[in-house]
Parts: sequence; C-alpha cells; structure tokens
Amino acid sequence: MTLHPSDALERKKILEEKFMCGIVGYIGEKKAAPILLDGLTKLEYRGYDSAGIAVDCGENIFIEKTVGRLDALKDKLKNRLPEGTVGIGHTRWATHGRPSDSNAHPHTDCHGNFVVVHNGIIENYLPIKEDLIAKGHKFSSETDTEVIAHLLEEIYRGDFVEAVREVLNKIEGSYSLAFMAKAHPDILICAKQDNPLIIGLGRGENFIASDIPAIINHTRQTYILNDGEIAVVKKNSVQILNRQGKSVDKKIFHVTWNAEAAEKGGYEHFMLKEINEQPKAVRDTMSKRIAKDGGAIILDELNWDKNFLDGIDKIYIVACGTAYHAGLVGKFYIEKLARKLVEVDLASEYRYRDPIVDEKTLVIVVSQSGETSDTLAALKESKRLGAKTLAITNVVGSSIAREAHQVIHTWAGPEIAVASTKAYTTQLILMFMLALYMAQICETLSDERIRELICRLKKIPAQISETLSDVEPIKTFARQYGFNEDVFYIGRALDYDVALEGALKLKEISYIHAEAYASGELKHGTLALIVEGVPVIALATQKSVYEKTLSNIKEVKARDAIVIGIAAAGDTELEKYLDHVIFVPETDELLIPLLTVVPLQLLAYYAAITRGCDVDKPRNLAKSVTVE
Ligand code: M6R
Repeated sequence: MTLHPSDALERKKILEEKFMCGIVGYIGEKKAAPILLDGLTKLEYRGYDSAGIAVDCGENIFIEKTVGRLDALKDKLKNRLPEGTVGIGHTRWATHGRPSDSNAHPHTDCHGNFVVVHNGIIENYLPIKEDLIAKGHKFSSETDTEVIAHLLEEIYRGDFVEAVREVLNKIEGSYSLAFMAKAHPDILICAKQDNPLIIGLGRGENFIASDIPAIINHTRQTYILNDGEIAVVKKNSVQILNRQGKSVDKKIFHVTWNAEAAEKGGYEHFMLKEINEQPKAVRDTMSKRIAKDGGAIILDELNWDKNFLDGIDKIYIVACGTAYHAGLVGKFYIEKLARKLVEVDLASEYRYRDPIVDEKTLVIVVSQSGETSDTLAALKESKRLGAKTLAITNVVGSSIAREAHQVIHTWAGPEIAVASTKAYTTQLILMFMLALYMAQICETLSDERIRELICRLKKIPAQISETLSDVEPIKTFARQYGFNEDVFYIGRALDYDVALEGALKLKEISYIHAEAYASGELKHGTLALIVEGVPVIALATQKSVYEKTLSNIKEVKARDAIVIGIAAAGDTELEKYLDHVIFVPETDELLIPLLTVVPLQLLAYYAAITRGCDVDKPRNLAKSVTVE
C-alpha cells in the first residue's frame, strides 16, 4: 500500500500522538550516533526541551543527554561520539518533571543494563515507583518513564522479549517505547499504545521512529505499528508480535511523502495540521481531569477549597492575543458558573496601569508558550503586589510555569504555526473546567447541572472532528471573498468573544482587514461601514440573545452586506435571511465556542492560501513574543 498525504486515515494514524516527544532507533552496520542525531534533528519541528542518545558500546551502553537543544547534545558529544552500531535517541517534551539533564531520556535501571526512551504518559507510575523503591531500586529522575527500566530489571530472567511483554502488562497509559539491553546487543525492542511508532526497513539495517521524517532519508519502506504491538528489531529482520506474544503479519507501507510534507504529517501547513489536531488536543487536555463517574472535575494541580475561594474577592485573567481571547471566554464561564467577578486584561496594559491587586486577588495568566514577555511581567507584578497566581500554559518548565504559584497545563502538544489554533481550544477547555471546579467548591451549580455539562464536554472532541469533516463550503467562501479588503465579524455574548478570535486569525495570516463587533454596538458607529457587498460573518448561537442577534443580522442584511452565518445544527431561522450558513453540531451554548471557532480558523487559513500568503510564518510576527 502507498502512504500518501491525501490518505486521511493513514495520516490520522500517524498524527495520533499524545505528547510530541521524538524517538529514533538504529540497528545495522553503520555508526548509530550520527544517524540518531540526524533523525532527532528531523523531529525538531515537533518541539522539545531536552534530548539524549544511548549507543551500545560492547562493555556498556553509552548514554549522553542534556536539557536544551540538540546543539547542546552535539556539543557534549564533541570528540567522544560512540562507535557502536545499535542505539536509540529521544527528544523530550516535558510532562512529568521539569526539563533537566536528569529528566531527559534515555532512562536506565539501577545498573545501566536496560535503557528505555518513551513518548506518552504512564498513568500508574507512582504505585509502581513506590513498590520498586521499597524493593531497593534507586531512581535518578522525576519522570514516569524511569519506572519502566527498573521494572525490566526486576522482571528480567534472561528472555528480553518476554520481560518487555511482562512490563507492558503492568503499565497503564499511553506510550511508544524503545528498549535496549546490555545483554542483548543485537536487538532493539519497541512497543506502541496510543502514540505513533514506525519501523523503517533497510538492507542489513533497520530503524525505529516516532514519525516518518526521522527515517525518510534512509528508507521509505515501513511498518506502521498498531496499538498493542511489539516489534523485535534486528539488523536483518523485524518480527511484530501482538500482546499475547503471537507473530503478526504486517504489510509494508511505502511512504511517498517528501521530507517537508512528512514533517507536517502530510498537511500543506503546520496551521492546517494543528487545526486538525484539535479533537485530540482537547481530549488530552480534559482526560484524567474528569471523575470516572462523570460527576465532577478533578484538578489535582490545585488544592482549592471553600476557604481559599472565599478569601478571593477579585479575579484577573491576564494574557495577550489569542490567549487574551480565551481569557474573555474564561470570564464568561467563571462568572456564569461560579458567580465570581472576573476582569480580563491585556498583559501589556495591565502591567503599566497600576492595577488594584492585593493578597485577596487571584491572577490567572494564560500563555501557550509560557514565555510571552508582557504576560510574564504582568505575572511578576501581580506577585509583587501580593496576589495569588495561577498559570495556564502549554509548556512545562516555561518561565511563566516556573514563576506562577500554581500551574495547570493544556496538553495541546507543541504549536508551531504562528497563528494559534489548538492552544486556543485547549485553553477554552481548561477555562471551562476551572469554572466548573470552582462551581463545585462554591456550590453554585446543582450536581445534575454539573453532570450534564460534563457530559456535553466529553462530546466536544468528536463534535470538533465532525466540524472538521466538511471544509468544502468554507474553501468556497474563502475563494469567493478572499480578496476583499475588509471583513466584519459580529456576535453577542460568547459569540462576540469568538468573533474577536476569528477576526484576529484572518488579520494575522491573510492580511485582510478584519474587525469584530458586539452586534449591539453596530448602530453606535460601525454600521456606517456596512455597504453593498461587504462580507460579514455573523455568529448566532447564543440562545439567550438569539432574537436580538437576528435583528442585528437583518440590519446588516438590509444594507446589502454578504452575510455568512455560523449557527448550531437545528437552527431553521437563520437560513431564511442569509446568503450562506455554516452549521456546527448542537451543544450547550457555553461550549459552542469550541465548535464555532473551527470554521473561522479554516476560513482564515483558506483566505490566506487564496491570497498566496506565508500561512505558517506571517509577515512581522513571531511565534513567541519574548520582547516588549
Ligand atoms: O504564547 P502566548 O499564548 O503567550 O502568545 C500570546 C500571543 O502572542 C499569541 O496568542 C498570538 O496572538 C497568536 N499569534 C495569535 O494567533
């Protein structure tokens, strides 16, 4: 079978990555280290905070690892590159334990006999670790991964493959794993569960990788592992086993992507890839934070109680750009569900306007990168004034994560396109969960309402997928209106907050002038700009203000604007008045921003394509704004 970028199913399979660490393995006749380093370089685009390699050197397994970029690892390896021809390498995106030399992979058991690299999360690592410590094992990192190497040491009785199988039976969670053992220098073993893993097939050599770009320069013949499969990789053979240890017949997949397309998982741009990753990013962010019976939100990172929240008389949400827009939605959620007053502020304004902040203030900073200079400065200022601080960020170990008193992470994985997409939706998820968590503590919602909202929340990933499945009308609108100089976005309540984000997306990547207005504000000035042929995107999903929104839409329509409506499935009214309506699946009106933003992201993307813009790297903008 041929693997081609347009093959959505295969592409999805490869994109199913929990967290975006990178794995490379080599076994053959050549020196392993340069191949591993080259493979890891090809995975750099995924983002990482530390890196390491392990190479079999006969007497021992050589390991070098470091926090920071691959260049730092290469520096450490200068003049001491190991000679061995078998090895594994890893780039880490921190989850358990901050980025540091000791937390970087590979990890070993007590005696360096077993070496492992891991993408994903071992959920039951704590009880396993406690048990192993009680048995005398010494741990040298804070990671969940290290338990795997020690478990292997504990279980191994001479049969490496069998020991790995037993380890896999004991761990719960998601993983792609690669193993080496000092006593078995002719074997690499790898295993997959919920994280991608492929085997590259060569002549007299074979490769392991978490993603195609790492091996594409060496081979295009691959096996794509399925969940529950284990591969025993030797230089002249590859055997795939299922969980029961039975051999599996595997078809070879021939990769036809070029290296550049492979980095983007076959998508034309990172932005499109990241838009399509949203169901998974959102699912990862909410998973493990919902009680098994679906009746409560669990935020282990916070230990808030009624006393703590009663002691807070003011909440600020402070952020920049898209994160600020997520903050606006957060205000709506917290005020509506937990009945606490919230102010949202742009970090660049907040830090200079002498905000009224004291020890009864909670300041929530939101930042994808965790490095935005204005947000970091606002956080420091809040701390100086005595506030309690909470960071919502996507990057473990980032400056903002380290500076704040408490942190909750979005699990979106690295976002590479300058235009923020999956970071926004995951921030919305955490804002919603935080508001529900506060509502639980403050008892501002009934148990039934909490349960109902959680039930709706759990459906969101699938509903985003559904929204993503029909892009053709959006492409057509973008082509039709892609060269207009001005576009207006209107909406009320949460629809207005999403309109702001939609307008920002269009501006930053397509360079079209776009403005968002609260529909009720039109008649206070902006209506003067609405003339024949002006495109207006009208969001109309908020039931409580639906009639009012509709009359605003009619006002615009009466001026002969071209109006594209965004509505919830089941709305039969809007179509009567509008040129086009894009429907998103029906959900609670509080959660619908997670769906309505998707067509707006796509509209911006396809408008930028129509205009021939550099989508992933728009002019004048940087991904992380670390200067004022
Ligand atoms: O990393 P941060 O979330 O702190 O970044 C904040 C903004 O710079 C960022 O959201 C920016 O507005 C995006 N380019 C919007 O797509």
